[in-house]
Amino acid sequence: MADLSIEFAGIKAPNPFWLASAPPTDKAYNVERAFEAGWGGVVWKTLGEDPAAVNVSSRYSAVFDANGEVSGFNNIELITDRSLEVNLREIEAVKKSWPDRAVVVSLMVQCEEESWKKIVKQVEQTGADGLELNFGCPHGMPERGMGAAVGQVPEYVEMVTRWCKTYSRLPVIVKLTPNITDIRVAARAAKTGGADAVSLINTINSITGIDLDDMVARPIVDGKSTHGGYCGPAVKPIALNMVGEIARDPQTYGLPISGIGGIGNWRDAAEFIALGSGSVQVCTAAMVYGFRIVKEMKSGLSNWMDSKGYESIQDFQGLAVPNTTDWKYLNMNYKVVAKIDQDKCTGCGRCYIGCEDTSHQAIDIKSHDDGTNSFEVIDAKCVGCNLCEISCPIEGCIKMEVQDTGLEPMNWTEDPRNPYRDAS
Ligand SMILES: Cc1cc2nc3c(=O)[nH]c(=O)nc-3n(C[C@H](O)[C@H](O)[C@H](O)COP(=O)(O)O)c2cc1C
Repeated sequence: MADLSIEFAGIKAPNPFWLASAPPTDKAYNVERAFEAGWGGVVWKTLGEDPAAVNVSSRYSAVFDANGEVSGFNNIELITDRSLEVNLREIEAVKKSWPDRAVVVSLMVQCEEESWKKIVKQVEQTGADGLELNFGCPHGMPERGMGAAVGQVPEYVEMVTRWCKTYSRLPVIVKLTPNITDIRVAARAAKTGGADAVSLINTINSITGIDLDDMVARPIVDGKSTHGGYCGPAVKPIALNMVGEIARDPQTYGLPISGIGGIGNWRDAAEFIALGSGSVQVCTAAMVYGFRIVKEMKSGLSNWMDSKGYESIQDFQGLAVPNTTDWKYLNMNYKVVAKIDQDKCTGCGRCYIGCEDTSHQAIDIKSHDDGTNSFEVIDAKCVGCNLCEISCPIEGCIKMEVQDTGLEPMNWTEDPRNPYRDAS
């Protein structure tokens, strides 16, 4: 059976599934229940200096998919609203009871050396395994000069990371904000400051919708609202891209990455690991479905690893990184065309209308005497864009088939049609 244990930036855990810093990790009661359910580690809900933060009511809003499941989740909560002393006491007790699990503590204080020096020393005394610097919270805290206000300025990222490395012997994970143009800049700054790892993504600035009767965004606080932080399945593609950008950046290559954003099952986790993550963190899925989801995550990952012959997480960690490249290095001579399985086709015509109205007019419609229609791909016109395969409601009905062009691979930097090929 596959070995799921990891050592991430020097922190050991029995499996790569950690709960992200958020309500699920806000107190000992939750964390104990999470460990009983089988989570490999937690990043404790962000601690700050006293007096503790004060939250508003209400706090969350969401976007739902066609089945009524949460596809995107938005929150306007701040960091922990419990006192530092209570949190530190609970962290110490939990770590003592669960020595084999990773207990990382998330931190956010004023951008002053003394504040950071004091809190990292206090956390160190709890026996926690590591620190995560919250440079990502996008709402409330930036107005006070913290969270994303630090994460968006590479010089601050480097400076605070260096303070923490100077005053603590614990591994320092820098949690990055996605609310930035180029995530690599912040990751490089963290590395220069001495970070042992980065974690990403924190939440994305968002307004999930407007109540058109009361003319206010959600969540509503006495007739007013504010932007929140977006997370859940909808952010996974953004998070994966950012993880991949850091994993393949020569300047941060090899820097451990804890992948976060929309992870809800073993497959999501495997994708983040394949793109270079050494651990994964989960928030929304645990909040919506409860801690028990980790059971399926562990068994699913383990079974899949067995089926592929991967004995450990390291065996497949980062395998997708070399295959993630710049557009200009893709093979211009590779060609796929759509094939419609006539036995599966219901004749709905979605493939046809999309291709006809918006794409390459590469699907032919035939109307029959009985009032039904059938569809055929015109190979010569099909550019292999995948639109029909994506929009077809019947699984496996449209497949993209690789064509033998007989041509050698050639990328854009080599392509005679590229007027700038000598410069690229
Ligand atoms: C209600 C809520 C509170 C959160 N609080 C924190 C926090 O205190 N510190 C932090 O670093 N991230 C916080 N996050 C962000 C999560 O840790 C995580 O980065 C984000 O939700 C993306 O993961 P997900 O898609 O699995 O939810 C919070 C998220 C939610 C939904």
